[in-house]
Amino acid sequence: MSKKLFIKTWGCQMNVYDSARMADVLAPLGYRPVDEPDGADMVILNTCHIREKASEKVFSELGRLRQLKDIKAEAGDGRMIVAVAGCVAQAEGEEIVARAPYVDIVFGPQTYHTLPEMVAKASRRAGSVLNTDFPVESKFDFLPDESAAQGVAAFLAVQEGCDKFCTFCVVPYTRGAEFSRTGAQILAEARRLVAGGTREINLLGQNVNAWHGDGPDGATWGLGRLVRELAEIDGLERIRYTTSHPRDMDDDLIRAHAEVPQLMPYLHLPVQAGSDRVLAAMNRKHTADDYRRIVDRLRAAKPDLALSGDFIVGFPGESDADFAETLRLVTDVGYAQAYSFKYSPRPGTPAALETAQVPEDVKDARLAALQQLLNAQQQAFNQSFVGQTVPVLFDRVGKRGGQLLGKSPYMQSVHAEANDRLLGRIVEVRIDAAHPNSLAGTVATGEYTSSPTGQIGRNGTQTLEATV
Ligand code: 5AD
Ligand code: SF4
Repeated sequence: MSKKLFIKTWGCQMNVYDSARMADVLAPLGYRPVDEPDGADMVILNTCHIREKASEKVFSELGRLRQLKDIKAEAGDGRMIVAVAGCVAQAEGEEIVARAPYVDIVFGPQTYHTLPEMVAKASRRAGSVLNTDFPVESKFDFLPDESAAQGVAAFLAVQEGCDKFCTFCVVPYTRGAEFSRTGAQILAEARRLVAGGTREINLLGQNVNAWHGDGPDGATWGLGRLVRELAEIDGLERIRYTTSHPRDMDDDLIRAHAEVPQLMPYLHLPVQAGSDRVLAAMNRKHTADDYRRIVDRLRAAKPDLALSGDFIVGFPGESDADFAETLRLVTDVGYAQAYSFKYSPRPGTPAALETAQVPEDVKDARLAALQQLLNAQQQAFNQSFVGQTVPVLFDRVGKRGGQLLGKSPYMQSVHAEANDRLLGRIVEVRIDAAHPNSLAGTVATGEYTSSPTGQIGRNGTQTLEATV
């Protein structure tokens, strides 16, 4: 009999990916995903610990779930298994078990391939099952194949964990050491995805450009080589990768941006801050000028490359002059899109112990100033497309009938009136209007291109007048 599984996900793309894989692992046990926790047979909270208030959110959500669990039991409708997963589980597992004993399972990001055993154990006995090990085996060797279709644009985890130990960050503690999957495993999974209809693959990793592995040819591959091999897969039209560290941006990967047309001209390359003093205190292992030089080399390889970044304001000891350096770096680089955060002390990280914490009101003011600059850059970037035609991979139907949504090569969301038959295809769209977070356009009648960026000619142009 089919059982109802509800998963709530916080945080990064890796967590979104993990949640999908948890559903894959539980499918053979009869669990099917549902959209509401009410009456579910199993509820998983897949949590994020990167910034503050994460655990408080989890405990308040658990309070609500406890009620739903009681209602289900009182109705004689069986037991609701409540599980907490992800980075809060990894960091605060013991506390969760102590504070919320009605939680049945607590497990970290590296153990979810053993969910069937954990569920069996939890079903047999009262009390919580706690599993926050970093097992010697890799979960990737035990996970089932990806569920049939991830869709037109899919994520593929290639690397996990981090050895960089930036002093503000919990990831090395919650996700563990850097780990790369093998080239053969990744290529096989990519081929399966493409056979299932995927046209764009976003390679996922906490430190994705640190990926390295033995290729099927016996040589050690870096990410640049992996991208080239993926580009050989027939039908895979777009390749992206996220998130990168400046230190791992090697020559071959930069060259791949020039040479592989399927590699999209958009790169998320966090710098965090613009002051060398702060970068050193963050243990980023690069200076602001190192970063500027990497951007220059990338743009020399791919002149239309658009950049996205992550920034932290109010890191301990950050002065007004340090912050001004961040603004200067942003002005120099010019971002198409960015994420910016107030520094939040994370328990167990070195920066949390610093005495020179920046007052909250100063952080607020710096964040507002930075976001004003970044928003202006994003607006200008989006505005520069109005009147231009861009190739859009339509991957979703819009909320309004007759509308499709897709992505430009530069990761902008684009919506346009279009026939459903254009789903899964790269279509030339003339941009009519730019909004802060999206573009609106009109399908350029009769234009269809199979070229991933629209920059390598119009090979494959064919008339689609009947369908647009
Ligand atoms: N405080 C604020 N932002 C943080 N990030 C990571 N740790 C912290 C923290 N303690 C941000 C970084 C990182 C992004 C995923 O989250 O900018 O790149
Ligand atoms: Fe965290 Fe730094 Fe590793 Fe990124 S590189 S995951 S910010 S420790």
